[in-house]
Amino acid sequence: MLKIALRVLPLILGICGTLAQGYIPSALVRCSVDDKNCFKTQAEQYVKYYKNGIPEHGIPGVEPLELGALNFRLGNSNSPLQMELEATNVAVANFGNGLIVDSLQINASATDLTTPFNVIWKISFPELDINADYTLKGKFLILPMNSKGKLKAKLTKVVVTATCFNQPEKRKDGNTYLKIVKIGATESIGSIKINFTNLFKDAELNEATVKVFNDEFSTFEGEIKPKLMNAITRKMKSVLQKLFDVMPYEGLFLNKKVK
Ligand SMILES: *[C@@H]1O[C@H](CO)[C@@H](O)[C@H](O)[C@H]1NC(C)=O
Ligand SMILES: *[C@@H]1O[C@H](CO)[C@@H](O)[C@H](O)[C@H]1NC(C)=O
Repeated sequence: MLKIALRVLPLILGICGTLAQGYIPSALVRCSVDDKNCFKTQAEQYVKYYKNGIPEHGIPGVEPLELGALNFRLGNSNSPLQMELEATNVAVANFGNGLIVDSLQINASATDLTTPFNVIWKISFPELDINADYTLKGKFLILPMNSKGKLKAKLTKVVVTATCFNQPEKRKDGNTYLKIVKIGATESIGSIKINFTNLFKDAELNEATVKVFNDEFSTFEGEIKPKLMNAITRKMKSVLQKLFDVMPYEGLFLNKKVK
């Protein structure tokens, strides 16, 4: 019900002519660019409002966050498990629903909206649940593996600091928009548990292999974490850019005019 209301709300606001600049309904909080205490509230409202995307503009939602395909080469000749793993249809559930904005810093100039600026997001997720299809080739001890199935990963206490560098850009329609030049992120993850179906036909062997995979996780971590984080950051950059492309910078904050 709420979801439908949220979809319909922009239409109503638009028809009534109370839509602020671009796609920002006037019901959402907008902050003065120098009101540092306001940013967190604004960010929280935006996440809640836009987590399902804006389908008519091809802006994807972030619940779940869809990452496409990821490839990993795991283990070496010394590890009991070695595998080349391809995960497809990777989807991170509880990304939009679970996202908590811990703090948000913006150093945009209050007088000149042509200067580039940084947004530093501190966000956290109590739990993220990754679901994917997988195919893999490899071996467990001396047993060859050639499997296809589903994989699930549960991550707890994920804390991310993301720095987003934005460059204002005047476009043909006369408005200024934000171009995201780059996003850098660091993260800490409390725990990761991974499970696979169908590694082996035999259920007990499957379970034993999953257990070894988790016990040995520290040897795979260096391959898995950065690739996963890069994929999440790339996707967020693309989603945010698409949003910024329909929201002129003039409209993002309360009291600003771009000269
Ligand atoms: C914000 O910080 C970045 C990086 O330190 C800098 O390049 C940019 O010019 C700053 N913007 C303003 C408006 O102070
Ligand atoms: C993996 O998933 C299966 C099937 O859902 C379950 O029976 C098993 O206990 C799980 N294993 C681990 C290590 O979580």
